[in-house]
Amino acid sequence: MTRSILFVCLGNICRSPTAEAIFRVQAQGRGLLIDSAGTSGWHDGKPSDPRASAEARRRGIDMSYIRSRKVIREDFERFDLIVGMDTQNMADLRAIQPAGSRARLVKLLDYAPELGITDVPDPYFEDNFPEVLDMIDIACSHLLESL
Ligand code: 4NP
Repeated sequence: MTRSILFVCLGNICRSPTAEAIFRVQAQGRGLLIDSAGTSGWHDGKPSDPRASAEARRRGIDMSYIRSRKVIREDFERFDLIVGMDTQNMADLRAIQPAGSRARLVKLLDYAPELGITDVPDPYFEDNFPEVLDMIDIACSHLLESL
């Protein structure tokens, strides 16, 4: 049974905190442990990118409580499911996954094949936050249905 889910991207200021916030609203009342982290640690302790929080706020979703942190080895024991945003995240996660660890690794858009793409594009550079939030919203709702 999946009781705990960690969303992971590179910086933990755009895609994964957005997924955390959206999924937390979608999964309200399910008693799941939900968190997010980044593979880089570049923005440790920082709030999410204001472009992501603004787009989330437009949709009635609060991201102000989230602070960036790096993925740690203990996350692979603490979480049942670790959800990467793109192929590079998956490679980086596999590289630090301790042998025999509990967590199952999956890529978010594997839950939304109808979107026709496999990686959530990086909005930090592409500045396509509405499009990225749409994708995350759809894939997160499928992820929830799959639990
Ligand atoms: P995220 O986006 O991985 O979705 O949080 C990025 C945030 C920051 C950087 C790259 C991607 N950066 O190069 O600082």
